[in-house]
Amino acid sequence: MYRSHNCGELNAAHINTEVTLSGWVQKSRDKGFIVWVDLRDRYGITQLVFDEERTSKEMMERAQKLGREFVIQVKGKVIERTSKNANMPTGEIEILVSELIILNKAMLPPFTIEDDTDGGEDLRMKYRYLDIRRNPVKNNLIFRSKVSMAVRSFLASNGFIEVETPYLIKSTPEGARDFVVPSRMNEGQFYALPQSPQTFKQLLMVGGMDKYFQIVKCFRDEDLRADRQPEFTQIDCEMAFVEQEDILTIFEELTRHLLKEINGVEVAKFPRMLFDDAMRLYGNDKPDIRFGMEFGELNDIAQHKDFGVFNSAELVIGIAVPGANAYTRKEIDKLIDWVKRPQVGALGMIYARCNDDGSYKSSVDKFYDQDDLAQWAARTGAKPGDLICVLSGPTTKVRAQLSALRMELAERLGLRKANEFAPLWVIDFPLLELDEETGHYHAMHHPFTSPKPGQLALLDTDPGAVKANAYDLVLNGNEIGGGSIRIHDKETQATMFKHLGFTAEEAKEQFGFLMDAFQYGAPPHGGLAFGLDRLVAILGGQETIRDFIAFPKNNRGRDVMIDAPASLDKEQLDELKLQIVINN
Ligand code: AMO
Repeated sequence: MYRSHNCGELNAAHINTEVTLSGWVQKSRDKGFIVWVDLRDRYGITQLVFDEERTSKEMMERAQKLGREFVIQVKGKVIERTSKNANMPTGEIEILVSELIILNKAMLPPFTIEDDTDGGEDLRMKYRYLDIRRNPVKNNLIFRSKVSMAVRSFLASNGFIEVETPYLIKSTPEGARDFVVPSRMNEGQFYALPQSPQTFKQLLMVGGMDKYFQIVKCFRDEDLRADRQPEFTQIDCEMAFVEQEDILTIFEELTRHLLKEINGVEVAKFPRMLFDDAMRLYGNDKPDIRFGMEFGELNDIAQHKDFGVFNSAELVIGIAVPGANAYTRKEIDKLIDWVKRPQVGALGMIYARCNDDGSYKSSVDKFYDQDDLAQWAARTGAKPGDLICVLSGPTTKVRAQLSALRMELAERLGLRKANEFAPLWVIDFPLLELDEETGHYHAMHHPFTSPKPGQLALLDTDPGAVKANAYDLVLNGNEIGGGSIRIHDKETQATMFKHLGFTAEEAKEQFGFLMDAFQYGAPPHGGLAFGLDRLVAILGGQETIRDFIAFPKNNRGRDVMIDAPASLDKEQLDELKLQIVINN
């Protein structure tokens, strides 16, 4: 038996008990006549003691040679510590060791395995298994497991059946590129890894499964960001005989259940916001509503005043930054430089200070008098002490720019509080989105999403105006889930493909299986998928999903630990009958 107890559970109640523990040497302190060793496992740290008087000379010597991260087993008696540590659960006791076995030696780790490590990001990724021994990473993985378990039990108790769908499939369009896998048995042909199990879950509804879920890996070849990994996990769900309201109700309940169970937070009914309003008020389809700073549109009050920049702009919008009248001129100039960075792309920023005495001082006083500025303040909700920041330009661009500024300032002002949760449904998304580069429309969600009732005809006349039965769940400014009510008849699906630029042959070739299935009694159905990694990170008070994934990829899509991706050797390529030619 390697252990009778773990390293986190012994306390004063165990004094005089003989125990066996196993774990890693966190550190040791050698005073010559006495050696203390901190023994660590997943559950905690227990102090071991060896001393001249009570420990044999031979064992004393072995204890003195223990290095960091050696794996050892000890037997001994639980004794009371002379100097207690109230900060740790095992702080009242230590183990007087009577037997020490070295189970495995360890090389000196490349970074210290402590909460505050000296290891840089790259090094920790390379030795991820060592990083996982550290509390911050370990606790994140335990937290993730807790969330997954809570999700499974909620869905199971609500009648959802977990079904696994294949990973070797044909392309499922979710808007990213596919990762592909060559088939040895089918020369020259490739599987695609699923960007999501979308078509399969719909087929399960045709199959009569009624309520499906799966905690499932999805693969998308897209550029990485803090909230994106090339392989990530969805809580994928689908239900038959449902309308949007049914879906919103059950998954709101799931999210509320998690917030309560995991974070101990009670949240009232989630607000709902139309996509158009989200864009108008926050410039963003995933607004963080933990704080205000809503956009005020100023066209009617800021244009036609001799200020050419505003007059020629499609949209003039501003936000009130709370308390920011205190910013110095230098600080404001820095803010202007910030919005002009290529990542944000504004050409400049106009500002108006809201003084405590109710007067205003703007960077465009030449064109606007106090009454004008008072109107800006009313529109943006600015109060004395605030700073009004105004951008102008083409509507889509300027909204995105002001949204970036809003989020940046909220971050700087500490308004994005990790322990505050503001969920929000964004509904009534457009069905289609215009790709400005190609001039083609593509599905904003995916091609299986149904238009709002009665809007099908609009597809011919004003495709951009068609709204979809699609919804996103937003939590603290992050899209944590999205879904839709699906098309469930062949004709509508064919019409949809036609509008997305597929010929009838292409649609049949790629999605014939789904349209065929629709002819055999497809029930009305719909669903949603949560991004588990994002959900877990946000419930955990963070936004970088990498920290909640056991073995993540770095920002170049590499696993630096196993060094993947890698070339194939010639034999493998020959077997696949593939030749590599790299075109640059
Ligand atoms: P969607 O593409 O919106 O919908 O994906 C659902 C959720 O998955 C998360 N997500 C990601 N998380 C980490 N890394 C990524 N690269 C990544 N991409 C997406 C997001 C997102 O909200 N089949 C549909 C769902 C449906 O219609 O039911 C789908 O995949 O949190």
